[in-house]
Amino acid sequence: MQTHQTISGFSQFLLLSLLLLLFFKTASGFGSMGPISASFGESGFFCAIDASGKQDVVCWGKNSSESTPSSASLPTSPSFSDIPAMAALSGGEGFLCGILANTSQAYCWSSIAPGIDLVPPTLRTTAYAHIAAGKSHVCAIRGSYYSDHDLGTVDCWEIYETGNNTLSSKQSTLFSDQSISNLAFKKVVSGEGFSCGGIREGGLICWGPNSSNLGVSGVVDNFTALASGKASLCGISEVTGEVQCWGDSDLLAGHPIDTQYVALASGARHFCGIRDDNHGVECWGIFNSSLVPKGQGFVAIASSDFTTCGIREDDLLLECWAANATSSQKPEYDPPLELCSPGLCSPGFCGVGKFAFNVSVLNEVDLTSLCVRNDLTICSPCGSNCSEGYFLSSSCTQHADRVCTACSLCQNSTCRDICGLQAPPEMKSKLWHHIWRLVIIFGSCALGFLLISISWCFLPRLTTSRKEEGTKKQFKSCIGKPELEADNNEDSEAPLSVVPCPGVAQVFRLSELKDATNGFKEFNEVGRGSYGFVYKAVLAEGQQVAVKRANAATIIHTNSRDFEMELEVLCKIRHCNIVNLLGYCSEMGERLLVYEYMPHGTLYDHLHSGLSPLNWGFRLKIAMQAAKGIEYLHKEFVPPIVHRDVKTSNILLDSEWGARIADFGLLTSNDKDLGGDLESDVYNFGIVLLEILSGRKAYDRDYTPPSIVEWALPLIKQNKAAAIIDRYVTLPRNVEPLLKLADIAGLAVKEKPNERPTMSDIASWLEHIVKDGLTL
Ligand SMILES: *[C@@H]1O[C@H](CO)[C@@H](O)[C@H](O)[C@H]1NC(C)=O
Ligand SMILES: *[C@@H]1O[C@H](CO)[C@@H](O)[C@H](O)[C@H]1NC(C)=O
Ligand SMILES: *[C@@H]1O[C@H](CO)[C@@H](O)[C@H](O)[C@H]1NC(C)=O
Ligand SMILES: *[C@@H]1O[C@H](CO)[C@@H](O)[C@H](O)[C@H]1NC(C)=O
Ligand SMILES: *[C@@H]1O[C@H](CO)[C@@H](O)[C@H](O)[C@H]1NC(C)=O
Ligand SMILES: *[C@@H]1O[C@H](CO)[C@@H](O)[C@H](O)[C@H]1NC(C)=O
Ligand SMILES: *[C@@H]1O[C@H](CO)[C@@H](O)[C@H](O)[C@H]1NC(C)=O
Ligand SMILES: *[C@@H]1O[C@H](CO)[C@@H](O)[C@H](O)[C@H]1NC(C)=O
Ligand SMILES: *[C@@H]1O[C@H](CO)[C@@H](O)[C@H](O)[C@H]1NC(C)=O
Ligand SMILES: *[C@@H]1O[C@H](CO)[C@@H](O)[C@H](O)[C@H]1NC(C)=O
Repeated sequence: MQTHQTISGFSQFLLLSLLLLLFFKTASGFGSMGPISASFGESGFFCAIDASGKQDVVCWGKNSSESTPSSASLPTSPSFSDIPAMAALSGGEGFLCGILANTSQAYCWSSIAPGIDLVPPTLRTTAYAHIAAGKSHVCAIRGSYYSDHDLGTVDCWEIYETGNNTLSSKQSTLFSDQSISNLAFKKVVSGEGFSCGGIREGGLICWGPNSSNLGVSGVVDNFTALASGKASLCGISEVTGEVQCWGDSDLLAGHPIDTQYVALASGARHFCGIRDDNHGVECWGIFNSSLVPKGQGFVAIASSDFTTCGIREDDLLLECWAANATSSQKPEYDPPLELCSPGLCSPGFCGVGKFAFNVSVLNEVDLTSLCVRNDLTICSPCGSNCSEGYFLSSSCTQHADRVCTACSLCQNSTCRDICGLQAPPEMKSKLWHHIWRLVIIFGSCALGFLLISISWCFLPRLTTSRKEEGTKKQFKSCIGKPELEADNNEDSEAPLSVVPCPGVAQVFRLSELKDATNGFKEFNEVGRGSYGFVYKAVLAEGQQVAVKRANAATIIHTNSRDFEMELEVLCKIRHCNIVNLLGYCSEMGERLLVYEYMPHGTLYDHLHSGLSPLNWGFRLKIAMQAAKGIEYLHKEFVPPIVHRDVKTSNILLDSEWGARIADFGLLTSNDKDLGGDLESDVYNFGIVLLEILSGRKAYDRDYTPPSIVEWALPLIKQNKAAAIIDRYVTLPRNVEPLLKLADIAGLAVKEKPNERPTMSDIASWLEHIVKDGLTL
């Protein structure tokens, strides 16, 4: 029902986006608290709360290859497994602090000895609601993290290095300022020699030896988030959502104005923030803007000196980027592949403009909550807009953020303007209507590919219609104008596939596909491959589809941008002899592709596994249609799409018994070897033809030799092709067409790749055979 929500709710979101500013409270950065945090300094490291439901902490340090001499004495991959479960994290210099998930007590650790608590013994039993680590001190607000009954007063302690490269701590006198001892705080941040806090009654106050350098005084505004650098402070105004900064003026030059943010993080010489509208990241200070991720939304970010890492909103995976380019152009920190908590667990309801994270989208059977207690929820602000190149395809609900979809998948006028696609001019005639429809359908597949698409869809098609008949018929049958090919002496049981090729991809919600597959249950499984499982699904409207669900290995080896690139290509692939993509879903780390359902199964099953053996009329047409499908992949794309796995189990049969090519390996495309790869598709298609002709498997130990090519090729060469013809199917009176098929197969499996015909040759030869027909 809510598969494709329109942008009509857009204006509501603008209102909501204003409202949500009033409710957002988590933030990350040096000295501020969040689900991901970083420690500063040479031995800096990152930690994040994972999405295991246990609030366990995952940490990662610098890559050993990037280690500087001074950090060489540190373990390159410290064992962080001793760190207890955490409710929230905040990083200082060389150490990190958190609030324990079970008791709300503070816990601080360094990368050298993560198992050793650096909180002074006198404060270890106190419960805290908020914690902020600075360069060498920590301030925390008393109260229980999960309850509303905070005391609100602040305790501070110092963490300092002892002689032998270890850290020690003591309750602080430097930060025990009289002016704050009786104040109750909502939140605190810490920097180098200062801490600042938002007071319950309103206003901002800073204390500590270096606090006067910031120039914060008499500030009465309230802030939804605060982040501090070593000598600077930025906050997000509760009223305007805009960023206000104090301190080190060089650093803060160019801080954003008129833009609303929901979270901040600060590095040594830069700040980054998460925009409230599209959840994209923007940075200011000294940094290289080309390294900041574009078009990717984040739920939380944290910065060490020169690296920022964030938790991506679409899959909860970690991504890091450098503030300035290293020699290798890579960030110093390589995060682990872990799903991370999208926010902090908190009691109570989420409020307006926020959604409660619904753990069911992670599809982990045993997981009922990301929080250690089921009464806690993770509330995150709803986005109101999408990054450039994306359009809003689904609105925010109480349990899911708005969904952004790549413009390459924009289908109609609702997203065309946002995606900057041109609307068609007034149609003059049916023909022009038709042509424009094509241009729009194909052109809108990808804005960036618009020109290519036009030259691909528009020009060839326009000229094809003036070309000789055969091609014209193929063209027509592919855009839904049924026109049977010459049917004079055709096998009447085997009509050509005239199923119209569908439009472009839709965006599905994960919940919808889960329902459609009975929760991805085994009995819905129709196949499996290296990519993952394929399920038969019935959509709410009753339409049958096939859902291909990526397994963890596939997700790990392709990032979401690769996936989008693959989608862009898949979206452009439209042909009546291809299993076309209908849509996709990429929510919460899942990658699901929705394809047309092929009710008659695979060619393999018909030839070899006891499904109705196909008669010769069917077999010839299937051969021709499969050839056309592969020819289309080879011919219509620049660079050509190489299938790489042409075999009878990848040739499926649609409801009209038309052949459809499935399972082409796009991600592995490699331009260099294209020539050879095209020819290997031809070779493998030759094997398919031999299987069709003989009913024998490609490799079968019951035969000598077991390889179908070694068995059949000598016979074909000796003009004894009749000996390989499948005897379990009634022979036609005239076997000539079958012998021709054998000859084509023989050419296709030639040893020297350059002697093999092209798929176009094969397709047109097969077309002639089918046209001439069989005499049964
Ligand atoms: C545009 O496409 C979306 C998603 O497929 C659909 O929900 C919506 O109804 C369409 N709008 C119009 C005006 O056709
Ligand atoms: C970190 O090291 C791993 C393995 O040694 C390597 O694969 C990865 O590319 C490195 N990352 C960076 C950012 O250098
Ligand atoms: C809380 O967790 C810590 C670390 O896992 C553990 O040492 C401690 O005993 C726990 N305390 C309670 C009250 O469960
Ligand atoms: C050196 O470290 C050990 C623990 O590893 C500690 O007991 C000792 O007091 C430290 N020495 C100094 C001088 O800080
Ligand atoms: C105050 O800042 C200076 C640098 O400006 C630094 O050297 C000093 O250590 C800071 N004070 C504290 C207490 O951190
Ligand atoms: C700050 O918050 C307090 C308490 O919520 C409120 O009374 C005060 O008016 C707010 N100040 C501003 C400037 O909005
Ligand atoms: C910014 O990063 C890009 C990409 O790594 C690099 O090509 C460029 O030289 C960098 N610019 C500066 C000013 O360092
Ligand atoms: C980035 O710049 C800072 C200061 O300009 C420098 O200290 C640091 O080493 C640089 N980091 C990288 C990774 O180049
Ligand atoms: C949404 O974002 C796009 C850029 O991605 C921008 O052009 C558009 O103006 C934004 N819409 C609103 C309502 O802010
Ligand atoms: C989470 O989503 C599922 C559907 O995917 C829904 O049945 C469930 O009610 C949602 N959870 C909550 C707390 O709303």
